[in-house]
Amino acid sequence: MYPLPRRMTRAWSPPMPAVPTIRYPDGMGPAPHADDAGAWAGQAADVPAEWFAHFSWLHGVRHTQRVHIHAQRLVRELRWPEADACIALSAALWHDVGRVNDGWDPGHGALSAARVVELGLHESLSEADAQAALFAIRYHCRSDGHGSLRAAGQDDPKRALRILWLLKDADALDRVRLGGWEDPDPAQLRHPRAVPMIPFARELLRVFA
Ligand SMILES: [Fe+2]
Repeated sequence: MYPLPRRMTRAWSPPMPAVPTIRYPDGMGPAPHADDAGAWAGQAADVPAEWFAHFSWLHGVRHTQRVHIHAQRLVRELRWPEADACIALSAALWHDVGRVNDGWDPGHGALSAARVVELGLHESLSEADAQAALFAIRYHCRSDGHGSLRAAGQDDPKRALRILWLLKDADALDRVRLGGWEDPDPAQLRHPRAVPMIPFARELLRVFA
């Protein structure tokens, strides 16, 4: 559990841009730009560079925008209810803000969760939803087994894991930027419907790097 003490979370108060509106992707119907990477890129979320503890091409603004797009497409494909989709999309926007390097770093989820709280981003969600988003952020860089174990301590373990798996697959789709052995592995994706999204991820990277 992550305490959300609004009293003590703001160690400093920089002039932060407003949290972008998280718009659910066109209800459950077909989106006009369903498979058009350029159209998706043109509607990418506003992700302020100031959110990030560390400037990075690999894990910064563009990566976050692409992961957010993949998360939107996944929740639509999976026909998620809007409430859960909103949590997953928030987690996608915030999942790497605490990274301080671009290497393998299983601690950056915890750093990102702490930074989300420090910046007050979680305040756009209800406390229960914020807890679910922070859980996914904290464990998105740990093994699935570790996430499953930790979910047991959440108020709604199944929901917490749904959000976590969604974030992990959205993040994994943008592994196309890494290439080689770090390319997305279809066998590792948690949602079969994410597998045919890999070619879209390559196209999105091409038009929105
Ligand atoms: Fe990421």
